[in-house]
Amino acid sequence: MRVLLLGSGGREHALAQSLARSPLLSALFIAPGNPGTALFGTNIALDANDIPALINFAQDNQIDLVIPGPEAPLVAGIADACAQAGLLCAGPTQAAARLEGSKSFTKEICKAAGIPTASWHYFTELDAALHYIRHKEAPTPQTPLVIKADGLAAGKGVVLAASLAEAESVLQDMMAMGSLGAAGRSLVIEDYLKGEEVSLFAFCAGETATLIGAAQDHKRLNDGDTGPNTGGMGAISPPKGFDKAAQEAALDLTVRPMLREMVRRGTPFRGVIFAGLMLTKTGPFLIEYNVRFGDPEAEALLPRLTSDLLPALYALAQDKLDTTPITFSDQASVCVVMAAQGYPTAPQKGSVIQGIDTASALHDVHIFQAGTTQNASGELVVSGGRVLAVCALGNNVSEAQQRAYTAVKAIHWTGAHWRTDIGARAL
Ligand code: AMP
Ligand code: GLY
Repeated sequence: MRVLLLGSGGREHALAQSLARSPLLSALFIAPGNPGTALFGTNIALDANDIPALINFAQDNQIDLVIPGPEAPLVAGIADACAQAGLLCAGPTQAAARLEGSKSFTKEICKAAGIPTASWHYFTELDAALHYIRHKEAPTPQTPLVIKADGLAAGKGVVLAASLAEAESVLQDMMAMGSLGAAGRSLVIEDYLKGEEVSLFAFCAGETATLIGAAQDHKRLNDGDTGPNTGGMGAISPPKGFDKAAQEAALDLTVRPMLREMVRRGTPFRGVIFAGLMLTKTGPFLIEYNVRFGDPEAEALLPRLTSDLLPALYALAQDKLDTTPITFSDQASVCVVMAAQGYPTAPQKGSVIQGIDTASALHDVHIFQAGTTQNASGELVVSGGRVLAVCALGNNVSEAQQRAYTAVKAIHWTGAHWRTDIGARAL
């Protein structure tokens, strides 16, 4: 099978590694990829969002399957363009990708399908939104108000406002000043949920879903879950206290009803669903859907996969679930993101990265590259905010954590920083 994988992050490096293990794979191309994906296939200098160029490449190179890593090409309609060109794509149509592309759409689906989610209101006018928050109980640091830009905002679209003044200024910025462009001109304001946050993954085709597994992201920049939100500073898999039975029950509650509703609307979902859940005292609540693997969740999850990923994705692209079960090792996985100085606001690029080979040689350690590139002298240098995902397996979280941090300490570049407590809450 000749495969075209889209994206350039740690998730795509992890996907490339898993795909390369498949005996069915004959050629792997990654657009645009990174120096890590180049270890498993051929990087193609095409933007993951340049749909016409990707379709041309796939047709010229007899690609059997297109696998989109990130959400942007899905929301832009890569699956529809593939279908038109007679190509198979393991991801949802543009209509179904609205589950990630629009927060208000997801809320409507939850309402129609009876899926537990925080109570919410949708606003297209600043005055109405301001009126609503001024007449509601004032937010506090313990019970902030959750403000969500309706559209895609690269991880910057959700603000937990801890006071009325902060909430007002967020609404002004997004709705009046257009700080997030069109994505924030309309928004959802919802109630704050308390609990443990987990990421649940499943393969979906029409009304059917098979559990992949679960992971837990660490979104805040600093230790102890403090500092600004990021794309994710680390992940563990599986999360503590969310076993397979609980994952199956959550799938019944938060994913399968959505799939039935999408079929009923004539826009069936197929692909990987990522349900962001809050495990509250009264059970799981849906925070959001993503229509793809998470990053860094994929880097934590995929090294535990013992079954073949490629036939599973190939079946999805044909609107089917593979008949072979998905299996995982019982090991724990801990993944630490090493970030560039200045991340998440203004990451500094260009520092030379040393020690990856030493770290990769450690037992049960996988180093996935994200914000890396090669400079003119062929050295590996920092090119983005999240630079590496350093992952390790172990017989338990403690062992995996020790291995991951031993690997982190073997890697150096100027300004590198990371959280020192990934997995600590699961110990
Ligand atoms: P989202 O993009 O919808 O996943 O939101 C980003 C992050 O904000 C989530 O991962 C949560 O940590 C947090 N968040 C979103 N909605 C809520 C909510 N209703 N209550 C508490 N935290 C939330
Ligand atoms: N780690 C969260 C995401 O991939 O959206």
